[in-house]
Parts: sequence; C-alpha cells; structure tokens
Amino acid sequence: MSMLYSIEKLDELRARVQEAKGAGQRVGFVPTMGNLHDGHIQLVQAAKEQCDVVVSSIFVNPLQFGVGEDLEAYPRTLASDQHKLEAAGCDLLYIPSVSTMYPEGEMNQTRVKVPGVSEGLCGESRPIHFEGVATVVTKLFNMVMPDVAFFGKKDYQQLAVIRKLVSDLAMPIEVVGVDTVRAEDGLALSSRNQYLSESERAIAPQLYQILTEVSKRLLEKPSEWQDAQQYGIHALVEAGLKPDYLEVREARGLGKPSVSDHQWVILVAAYLGKARLIDNLEVALNRLKD
Ligand code: PAJ
Repeated sequence: MSMLYSIEKLDELRARVQEAKGAGQRVGFVPTMGNLHDGHIQLVQAAKEQCDVVVSSIFVNPLQFGVGEDLEAYPRTLASDQHKLEAAGCDLLYIPSVSTMYPEGEMNQTRVKVPGVSEGLCGESRPIHFEGVATVVTKLFNMVMPDVAFFGKKDYQQLAVIRKLVSDLAMPIEVVGVDTVRAEDGLALSSRNQYLSESERAIAPQLYQILTEVSKRLLEKPSEWQDAQQYGIHALVEAGLKPDYLEVREARGLGKPSVSDHQWVILVAAYLGKARLIDNLEVALNRLKD
C-alpha cells in the first residue's frame, strides 16, 4: 500500500504536484468536505483508474453553508478519513485551514457565480450555496492544478455547476461524473444520513423507491412528466418526508424537459427530521412512446 501524504501548506502541495507533472504523470483530484464514506472512496477509485497520481482535499467550506445550516455540526473525522484514503490508494491529501483558504476573511473573498444551473432546485432554498461551491472549487483547482477532477452524481446540480464553471472559464480540466453509491436498501450514502434517527433511517430509502417509480412513469408516458412529478411529491408526503422539491429536468443543463431530449433526470430534496436529503435518478429516453 502506498503512503498518503497529508499537506497543509500550499507551497508543499504545489511542489509535489509539479514534481508529478514534470515526470509526465496525470493528476486526478477529488475534492471533499471529509467524513468520508464509500461514495467518496468510489471517486478516489475512479481517479486511481484514470490517473497516475490522486490528490484529495478535505475542507469544510464555510462559504457554501447558509445561516442556520450545519457548518458547526458538520462531522470532522480527519484520522479515520486519512486511513480510508490511504487504503484506497490516494497519494496526497490537501487539508488547508480556513485562513489559508480565505486569508482576508470570507467577506473579502472574490466570488465565482455560475448563472442558470445554480438557480432553482437546491439553489432556491440554499441561495448562496452554489456560489460558495463554485468559489472554493475554482480556488482548489488553481491550488492543485489537476488534469482531471471527479465529482459524484449524487450532487447532480453541483456537477452541472462545475461543468459549466470549467467550460465558461476555459479551465484546462476534464470533469468526470461518478455514479451514486447507495446502501443496500437504496439510500444514497451521505454524511448527513448520520442525522437520521433509527425510525427516520427506516423511512429514508423511500426517497430512492419513489424516484424509481417516477422514472417508470416517465418511461411509459414522457409527455405526462408533470403528472409524474405530482405523483412523486404526493408519494413523499405519504411516506412521511417533507418535500422541498421533486422535479424532472433535462440532464445536462438542467433546463425544462422536452420529449426531444435523450436524457432526463429526476431530482429530489426532502426533509426528514433534522436532515435534508437529496437524491436523483437519470432517465434515458431512448424509446419514446408518445
Ligand atoms: P462532499 O459532500 O464531501 O462530497 C464530495 C464528493 O463526493 C462530491 O463530488 C459528492 O458528489 C461525492 N459524493 C458524496 N456522496 C456520494 C455518493 N453516495 N456516491 C457518489 N459520490 C458521492 O460536495 C462536496 O463535498 C463539496 O460541495 C465540495 C465539492 C468538496 C466543495 O466544497
């Protein structure tokens, strides 16, 4: 098993990545906020397959948390994260402090705003969230300078924001989306699942079951996607979840769906106790019936 180097200083990170690049190695990057589970590790494995050197980062980014969200409560588990990354074959772990990231303070930080895809869905109830994500990811990209970066489809809107960010700002980075890792009962793995009580955890898999049922309805009658959406929202309420949204969108740009699109995605966010859970399911419309 190769050694994991944990790095706090930007100069050291740059030196190590430069060394790898100088030797002609392809550098993959997996940004995270820590408290790692098999979903994150799947990204590291994808990076391992496609790259020579894998860099990960752990930074709980204050810029992307709204007032009253779980910034303070967000689980910080560095020692076990390091262990998991090393076992997965990650080479470098960058763990900047808040003052390394935002030396002039959060308020004075230059921001990156990605229009369109950042609005609606999670952008509606978390208005500053994607600006915080786009800003930190831009900064991390400039620090690490990877050839390829890996993001989970679990955070589908985030992936769409990153793709547009990279394209609009002509960043020389390939973005790879990795399939969602789920528990056996279908619940998408998330650090926030820890906020669920035992009885809530028993309800939570309904989120994925409902997505699956909505997907079936869409494949049967794509033109009636609005009815399928309504069905999904009612089903969530009946299951004991409090829906924030359940929407059918075109998969790449997340615009309104049209039957001429090839790929749709159903996106959902719902509250369950203290937790706000998100999930999504892609729907390939290759055999349109109407
Ligand atoms: P975090 O929530 O730690 O997630 C880090 C990466 O892991 C993201 O790309 C996310 O989509 C992916 N991921 C999480 N759960 C997953 C699952 N069950 N299956 C597959 N991938 C999964 O997302 C963030 O951190 C932050 O917003 C970040 C991009 C690091 C910027 O701060």
